[in-house]
Amino acid sequence: MAEKEQTAAPEKIFIFDSTLRDGEQTPGARLNRDEKLEVARQLARLGVDIIEAGFPVSSPGELQAVREIARRVREPVICGLARAVPGDIDAAWEAIREAERPRLHVFLGASDIHMRFKHRKEPHELLYQAVEAVKYARRYTPDVEYSPEDATRAREEYLYELLAAVIKAGASVINIPDTVGYAVPAEFGALIRRLREKVPGMERVILSVHCHDDLGLAVANSLAAVENGARQVECNINGIGERAGNAALEEIAVALRIRRDSYPYFTGLNFEEIYRTSRLVSKLTGIPIPVNKAVIGINAFAHSSGIHQDGVLKHKETYEIIDAALIGGKAAQMLLTARSGRHAVKHHLQQLGFTLDETQLETLYTRFLDLADKKKEVYPEDLEALVLDHLSAAEPTYRLDYLQTVSGSKTIPAAVIRLRKKDDAVIEAVAVGAGPIDAAYNAINKITGLNISLENFELSAVTHGRDALGEVKVKISHETKSITGRGTSTDIIEASVKAYLNGLNKLLRLNGNSGDTAPLGHGNGDSQA
Ligand code: KIV
Ligand code: ZN
Repeated sequence: MAEKEQTAAPEKIFIFDSTLRDGEQTPGARLNRDEKLEVARQLARLGVDIIEAGFPVSSPGELQAVREIARRVREPVICGLARAVPGDIDAAWEAIREAERPRLHVFLGASDIHMRFKHRKEPHELLYQAVEAVKYARRYTPDVEYSPEDATRAREEYLYELLAAVIKAGASVINIPDTVGYAVPAEFGALIRRLREKVPGMERVILSVHCHDDLGLAVANSLAAVENGARQVECNINGIGERAGNAALEEIAVALRIRRDSYPYFTGLNFEEIYRTSRLVSKLTGIPIPVNKAVIGINAFAHSSGIHQDGVLKHKETYEIIDAALIGGKAAQMLLTARSGRHAVKHHLQQLGFTLDETQLETLYTRFLDLADKKKEVYPEDLEALVLDHLSAAEPTYRLDYLQTVSGSKTIPAAVIRLRKKDDAVIEAVAVGAGPIDAAYNAINKITGLNISLENFELSAVTHGRDALGEVKVKISHETKSITGRGTSTDIIEASVKAYLNGLNKLLRLNGNSGDTAPLGHGNGDSQA
C-alpha cells in the first residue's frame, strides 16, 4: 500500500530515481534495453515519482532504451539527462518525447574547479550557456530540471546568481548535486536553507538534492537537505552509482518512514516493493548486495547472538526497528513442478514482478518445463533466474549452440563449442585448458578472436539440494573495458559458458559491435554525467 499522509498536512517528498542513469555508470553495470525496461517497470511499481532513464546522447542504443521506457512506462515522470548544449537536449527530447510526462534534466559545471579545468570558460560565459540551455529545453517542455554540477564546491555567491538566472529562464526544478560526495550534513542542510531563502524565485520551483557517497554521508546529507526545505531527493536502488555510489533509495525511504517523528513527510512509494526492486537491480547489474547493507542486506533482519535471539523471541522490538514485511522481505515460499501449467507459471512470474508478453511467456514456459524435468521442485529463485537469463540474452551477437567438455583425473580437459552468430553463421572450435571451463573459455576466445581475460568467477547455488540451479557470475575484460556476465543452469559448466557469453555480448555492445557506441563513462571528461 502506498504510504498515506499521517498528520495534519505533511509535505510530500518526491522520489527521483537515477538507477538507470547514475546507477548504470557503475563500472560493469551496463544493462541492455530489455533489462532497462524491466527495471523501469519495477521502479514504476515501487511508486517512484521520476525515473531518470538515461543519458540519451551517449549512444544510439541508450537513446533507444530511454525511448522504449518513455513509451511503455506510463505512471512516473520519465527524465532524460543532457549537458547544457543543444545537441544533448535534442537527443534527450527525442528519447523522452513520447512519455506521458517528460522531463529534461540539464547540467553544467558550477564550481571553480569544473569551470576552470573541465570547461575552460569564465563563470559569466557558463552562466550565459546555462540560461540559453534552459530556454532551449523549455521550447520542448515546461518540466525542465537544472543541476549546477559540483554545487557543494562552488562559490555560494555564484550559485545565487546562476540559480536566479536559470529559474528566470524557466527551470521548474533546481537540483543541488554533491557530485563528489564532499558535503557533511549540517553544512549541506545549511546550504539548502540559504539557497531557499536567498535565491529569487526559489519559492516557485522544486528544490532537489543529489548526493554521492564518497564519505559515506549521501543518505545523511539528503535527509539534512529535506529538513531544510528540499522536496525532491535523487537516489538509486542499492545505492549504486559512480565511484562510491549515490544515496540509497531504500535507506532514505525507510528512514523517512521509521523516523516520521523527526521527518514529518510522506512519499508515494509502495514500500513492499523495495525488496523485490533491490534484488532485481542487483541480479541484472551483477552488483551484489553486501550482507550487512542497511534495510536490504540479508543480515539486516537476522539475529545471531543468543541474547539477541532470546530478546527478539520475547518481543521483536527489543532488537528490531524495521519489520521485514514493510519492504516486502517475507515473500511467501512457493513451489512449482513439471505438472504446473502456463497459468500457474504466469501467476508466479507476476508475483515476482515481471511483465512479459505472450511470446516471452511461451519461451519461458518451455524453459521452465526443461528445468522442472531436471529438478523436482522449482523455487521462486529458480524462476527468477530463468527470466533474468532470458532478459540478459536479448539480442546477443553470439549464442551457444552446442557444448561438450571432457575432463577427468587422467585426461587433458578439452571443450568443443559451437556458437551461432546473429546472422545465423555457425562457428565451431576445440580447445584444451586447465579444466573444462578454462577449455570452454579458450574455445570461445578462438571463435571470437578476442583476447578476453577473466578477472573474477563466482559460482553459487540458486536454491538448495543436489539438483539446484547453479548461478555463475563472471567479470571479464577486454583492453580497457570490463563487465559482468551471469548465467544459470543445472549444469555448472553450461552456466559458466552462458555467463561468459553474456558478458562477451555486453562487451561487444559496449564496443559498438552491435549498434551501440560511445558508452557512458568512457568518453572524455566532459561527456560524463
Ligand atoms: O553527480 C552529479 O553531479 C550528477 C549530475 C548530472 C546531476 O550526476
Ligand atoms: Zn551524480
